[in-house]
Amino acid sequence: MTIQWFPGHMAKARREVTEQLKMVDCVFELLDARIPYSSRNPMIDEVIKDKPRVVLLNKMDMADPRETQKWMNHFEKQGIYPVMLDAKNGKNLDKVVKAAEHVTQEKFDRLAAKGLRPRAIRAMIVGIPNVGKSTLINRLAKKSIAKTGNTPGVTKKQQWIKVGKVLELLDTPGILWPKFEDQLVGKKLSLTGAIKDSIVHLDEVAIYGLEFVQQHDLATLNKHYNIDVTDDAPYIELFDAIGRSRGMKNKGGETDYESVVELIIREIRNAKFGRYTFDRVAELEQLTDDAE
Ligand code: G4P
Repeated sequence: MTIQWFPGHMAKARREVTEQLKMVDCVFELLDARIPYSSRNPMIDEVIKDKPRVVLLNKMDMADPRETQKWMNHFEKQGIYPVMLDAKNGKNLDKVVKAAEHVTQEKFDRLAAKGLRPRAIRAMIVGIPNVGKSTLINRLAKKSIAKTGNTPGVTKKQQWIKVGKVLELLDTPGILWPKFEDQLVGKKLSLTGAIKDSIVHLDEVAIYGLEFVQQHDLATLNKHYNIDVTDDAPYIELFDAIGRSRGMKNKGGETDYESVVELIIREIRNAKFGRYTFDRVAELEQLTDDAE
């Protein structure tokens, strides 16, 4: 689903998430493991405030495992509890529950000290569109025996999904807007399928993706398209080589660039020839150092 975000939509989304947050003990902030920086909502810290939080690096099956580990370390260093996840195939779901227990431990200890009866941890998922929120909710719901009833006092039909004995998850995720002020972030969001419309020019997205693979994994690129380009070849040469190899030509015998663009984006988006992480911790830390 493509949503065009206007200021009014953003304000409404923020209000709704803020309302939902009042009902939960902790938040799962869902990110795309290929772009853990670019797939964060720009106001997430202000929205979540000091509510206990777990960062879920989803789609780990499509990200570079070494880079995902670096991101895990990065979040840990910041005092945020991270879990890497593949919601589509149900990998690491148990770690999600454990993480919720960990980040809410203090609160529940406090409640117990006051003599309050133990209850399930209430949680919600937030994230930008297409990071896998519904997939994760469905996955976790499968583990549940039944949905619990409506929450008293809540007019909207929000339901709690029981996940095992310890967790209750709000069945509607909080949907927040993506970053859009930065061209490069836009290209990364498009390349990973977070935005599927024409906010960014698709040819620029394909060039970015192709050059990324050329720089980071040239041998695979050459093998996958049965081409033989060098690491300093200009992108137009790459387009022509791929077009020739795949028979993508128009009537005049010239490269059909539109088809090549579409092919490259589709194949990188679905991790057809490699697992790539486009946001690098090293680059982010460099940026932060420069700003200080
Ligand atoms: P949303 O609620 O946050 O908007 O996202 P949603 O669950 O609809 O997921 C968006 C796409 O991401 C879906 O693909 C979904 O299958 C895929 N996805 C979610 N989690 C993972 C994951 O951990 N790994 C991988 N590889 N994919 C994941 P789709 O193309 O829209 O549909 P389909 O391919 O499932 O048919």
